[in-house]
Amino acid sequence: MSAWIFGYGSLVWRPDFPYVERRIAAIDGWARRFWQGSTDHRGVPGDPGRVVTLVRENGARCWGRAYRIEGGDGEAILERLAHREKGGYDRIVLDLHFAAPGAPARGFVYFANPRNPNWLGPAPLADIARQVRRSHGPSGANVEYVLELAGALREMEVEDAHVFALADLVKGEGAP
Ligand code: SIN
Repeated sequence: MSAWIFGYGSLVWRPDFPYVERRIAAIDGWARRFWQGSTDHRGVPGDPGRVVTLVRENGARCWGRAYRIEGGDGEAILERLAHREKGGYDRIVLDLHFAAPGAPARGFVYFANPRNPNWLGPAPLADIARQVRRSHGPSGANVEYVLELAGALREMEVEDAHVFALADLVKGEGAP
């Protein structure tokens, strides 16, 4: 098999599976938001952390990383990802637009829809930052998730005002 997987959260900075190619890519009409609760990675049941999902927004563009997987390992990788993303994410297929010139491709994307049991939804950014600062789970501190994602996006030289503002607040640098 040959398939693209698009990551916009932890899959940007910790893909944790073998791939044959990695490209900066974007999906159009979607915005990245820290609106999904995490009880299995960056929080625990009853005290969830906050991780990203996608919400539809006209004119929005969400940058991330696309990975091409190939060969007999493909099914095993998708199974592993289904387990990793089991805390409320569905696998959907979207158009990926690459930063480098070339035709778009279809790719798998893990998307937490508002009907999943871990959905938290919008909140003032300062409240999200407080929740992130106090949350820890089996994969580590929620703060690490935010700062690693912000760092990777900066390294890719792409914009995400929501992520960067949250990272500043989490570091104690943003306006409250
Ligand atoms: C993703 O990274 O694409 C999905 C959300 C996550 O695992 O953080």
